[in-house]
Amino acid sequence: MITFSVEDHTGQVQTLELPGDINLSLMEVLKASDYPIAATCGGMALCATCHLEVLSGGDRLPAPGDAELDMLDTLPNATAQSRLACQIRLSENLQGACFALKAPALV
Ligand code: FES
Repeated sequence: MITFSVEDHTGQVQTLELPGDINLSLMEVLKASDYPIAATCGGMALCATCHLEVLSGGDRLPAPGDAELDMLDTLPNATAQSRLACQIRLSENLQGACFALKAPALV
């Protein structure tokens, strides 16, 4: 099992525990867990509506690719810890990590 935590738009932190062998992106996990993210482009690194910040554990994640970096460059609120959830695959690398949602909440 993989355990990590996510801070939502209201500041509430929830711990998620998932099997490590499901082939999903972090964006897909967040949507399936009813987090209000739009993920408009479906995971193509084109919309940034899955933008989040890695609060801890980022050193274990694979580095962002060019498409992710290009999209993050367009965001006024991006930080050095910003990532696109759709570009992060669920894996043991997420164990113990903490994320905070940064994209505007879907209403
Ligand atoms: S879902 Fe569009 S950039 Fe991640």
